[in-house]
Amino acid sequence: MNPRPLAPHASALPLRYNPTLLMSRSRGLTVSPDTLTFNSVRPVLAVAGEAVHLLASRRRLEPPCKRATPALWPDNEQIIRNFGILVHMVWQVIFLIILILLGSAAYAGIQGAPWVPTWKRDMKRVGELLRLAPEEKFVELGCGNARVCRHLKQEQPQADVTGVELSLLQYGVGWLQNRLAGSGVKMKLENAFKHDLSGYDALYLFLMPETYQKIRPKLETELKPGSRVVSYVWPILGWEATRVDEREGAPKLYYYER
Ligand SMILES: C[S@@+](CC[C@H](N)C(=O)[O-])C[C@H]1O[C@@H](n2cnc3c(N)ncnc32)[C@H](O)[C@@H]1O
Repeated sequence: MNPRPLAPHASALPLRYNPTLLMSRSRGLTVSPDTLTFNSVRPVLAVAGEAVHLLASRRRLEPPCKRATPALWPDNEQIIRNFGILVHMVWQVIFLIILILLGSAAYAGIQGAPWVPTWKRDMKRVGELLRLAPEEKFVELGCGNARVCRHLKQEQPQADVTGVELSLLQYGVGWLQNRLAGSGVKMKLENAFKHDLSGYDALYLFLMPETYQKIRPKLETELKPGSRVVSYVWPILGWEATRVDEREGAPKLYYYER
């Protein structure tokens, strides 16, 4: 079998850095690259030759004895530079996440109402008006962090309680709080205008007054007869409240029976 010609660089490299000659010498051979016919050594030499050639063309070559791997190993400056890039990238991702969360909260604010929670003491009033029975289905449209939902579920653990929220930020916080509390409240990341209301017995909403007017036709079409609705602060114009809960120094609650 004829020996395959060696890569041009093998003989072009200076003797000191020529892997072919160095390896043949280390094996006690005194052959030149042209006469080297050791099949077993040739692939190793070819790979080593390629590597040396590549490195020599990229950076100043050092004597082989000094460099087992250092050429492939980043120096301190490189590590610091890479670390800086990594920190920068992490900050960019965090910034992007914050931007998305705030953007979605702003979008929900425009769509229905910005996030303002129902006062803690008024959650009890909502529960008293709705009087959820076991197995009843309740939904809160624009539930924020679902604090009203959790309160009602605590009052009536056997009721099916769902909160619908459009803002990723409030949804995420509410979801986490529900998980940590093991509340059993269901949360949906959805536009209230798209949520099917046909299966619910009771509904609570605290949105902007104009949003009440916009969502009213949907409530009229989808809610089943006999269902109850409570609105916070503002009435649903065009509907006659069965009861208005007024307390001094507190927002009004409007109770409707369909
Ligand atoms: C005034 S806050 C009330 C929060 C909660 N219901 C409470 O009483 O604590 C209104 C909430 O509705 C959400 N929201 C606004 N428009 C919405 C829509 N179209 N669909 C679902 N949620 C919406 C907002 O993100 C905000 O969290």
